[in-house]
Amino acid sequence: MFKLRVLLGLGAIVTTHCSRGLWAHSSRSVCPLVGETGWLMWARPQSNIHRMEGGKPMKFLSQEEAQKIDEELFTEYRFSVDQLMELAGLSCATAIAKAYPVASFTRKSPAILVVCGPGNNGGDGLVCARHLKLFGFEPTIVYPKRPSKPLFENLTTQCEKMDIRFLSEFPAEPEVIDEAYNLVVDAIFGFSFKGAIREPFNSIIGTLKKVTIPIASVDIPSGWDVEVGSPDGIQPDMLISLTAPKKSALQFQGRYHFLGGRFVPTALESKYKLNLPEYPGTDCVIQIM
Ligand SMILES: *[C@@H]1O[C@H](CO)[C@@H](O)[C@H](O)[C@H]1NC(C)=O
Repeated sequence: MFKLRVLLGLGAIVTTHCSRGLWAHSSRSVCPLVGETGWLMWARPQSNIHRMEGGKPMKFLSQEEAQKIDEELFTEYRFSVDQLMELAGLSCATAIAKAYPVASFTRKSPAILVVCGPGNNGGDGLVCARHLKLFGFEPTIVYPKRPSKPLFENLTTQCEKMDIRFLSEFPAEPEVIDEAYNLVVDAIFGFSFKGAIREPFNSIIGTLKKVTIPIASVDIPSGWDVEVGSPDGIQPDMLISLTAPKKSALQFQGRYHFLGGRFVPTALESKYKLNLPEYPGTDCVIQIM
């Protein structure tokens, strides 16, 4: 992945130019546009990281569109939540293993901290942790608000039975996290998040803003507005967009943007003009930036 950076000198410049300081007073469409067209077009000849169908740009979803597509998958297309959650979680674990292979870690243990929120994003995190374990990582889960629903109870049991440790409390000190883990998976809030962040997640996100190890966010960086992002929110190193990227992904400044959740039927893709990139071969993820 690093070679990509070197390869794409322009990309690196664009990234620097889009440093956070600039956001405050620049129109928010300037840098992402470069990122979305300049960067990706430039990147295309040298790599397979992104192919736009028929040259049309990929759709970045509003919150309402994301909710409609989600609903349609369940009502019209008759998927079950646990089916799509399994594919989403598998995509996240696969993307993480591609961007951060165990061999690249400097710590002795391939330890990863997975923070799970109270809803479906947290469920994706549980599934992701289970697959990470199967891929040779050593995930530890923090799951402070567990819904008493069979779906989540079952996912929790599956992790416990696979000897994945659950912490009783989130480590309040960012240094403790930096010391013990190679990576944090942020599976706290997803595309349906709105409003104020309640405790304990407010404190958790506050701590995550201070950790120096990379953060990989599932679908949306937690605490971000789904459409406009959050300039003073957490700034993950990796974003795994699920189904299709949301508008806030245009504000993502990290190194790795993957798309996962290869389960969208063609008719649904056409209806919402998603213009999803072509996943390579049988892969369940594609790197789009
Ligand atoms: C949870 O597990 C039980 C026992 O295997 C099963 O009967 C039930 O359908 C599962 N529920 C969900 C929502 O996955």
